[in-house]
Amino acid sequence: MRTLRTVAELRAELAPARAAGSTIGLVPTMGALHAGHESLIARAREQCGQVVVSLFVNPTQFNQSADLEHYPRTERHDATLAAAGGADVLFAPSPREVYPPGFSTQVRVLDLTERLEGAARGAEHFHGVTTVVTKLLCMTAPDVAYFGQKDAQQVMVIRRLVTDLNIPVRIEVCPTVREFDGLALSSRNVHLDRSERERATALYRALQSASDLAKEGEQSAAVLVRSAAEQLRSVGITPEYLTLLDAHSLQPLSTLDRPGLMALAAHIGKTRLIDNVVLHPLPTSPSGSDQTEREALARCTV
Ligand code: PAJ
Repeated sequence: MRTLRTVAELRAELAPARAAGSTIGLVPTMGALHAGHESLIARAREQCGQVVVSLFVNPTQFNQSADLEHYPRTERHDATLAAAGGADVLFAPSPREVYPPGFSTQVRVLDLTERLEGAARGAEHFHGVTTVVTKLLCMTAPDVAYFGQKDAQQVMVIRRLVTDLNIPVRIEVCPTVREFDGLALSSRNVHLDRSERERATALYRALQSASDLAKEGEQSAAVLVRSAAEQLRSVGITPEYLTLLDAHSLQPLSTLDRPGLMALAAHIGKTRLIDNVVLHPLPTSPSGSDQTEREALARCTV
């Protein structure tokens, strides 16, 4: 695996593979790689002839400079993991390479970016994400780009972006990778102390309790949200948001009569974590009471 710092080097490196018709896959990351990122790299390795992992802690998507300063930076470890996962290129540009003097363009997706994370952190967060992802896609020109369901809203915003701007790339979404106790892997988990780490497991339990109810046929958003909120309350967590939205439009959902995204954000101590699960309504079987089918569906994990 080669580590490259400039766009010119990246393009030169990929040119022969591109000319030979090889499929190019891009896994955009901010480093501090963990098994979640590794799953994206593994999927790219399965599907592509050339795998590029980008590592860039993008300053424009952080709304607090302290958060940017404290973001873990572990390039040597990241290079080892990326190489072990089968990446061909680690593209790790400097901030100056990405945002040279005079840089004055921003790519904004409207509407979708105003909810959830956009409402909580400010839509500027997503404007930073969409600007840097557009740049990474232009720099690499991949056939496929890989993103995690962990950041469900980010995926939706990026899908909107590539559709609206006719960017010729397929967006592939990989499932959320979790710890043994359900906590979604995140680069921020390293900031949790022992007791915070223990309390953080309530996030997954909250989503699971709603998921279990949905599998039993519960459709009321109020009931589903209340059940999740109760799990959080039991360990003293007040979520920043905990809500059920239409999984396609992110509009509020009062009845789970179509796929719904239950998303939450919460501070555990000083660490802000997000997680989500997609809930599906039970299909109404022709007989209306096909117990076998319901039981089979209830066993499916979301
Ligand atoms: P980062 O937080 O490093 O995440 C890189 C990719 O890994 C994202 O697509 C994210 O959804 C995915 N990911 C993170 N944790 C995961 C988990 N537990 N399971 C599966 N996938 C997981 O997201 C960003 O960086 C940035 O916003 C970026 C897109 C790189 C733009 O700067």
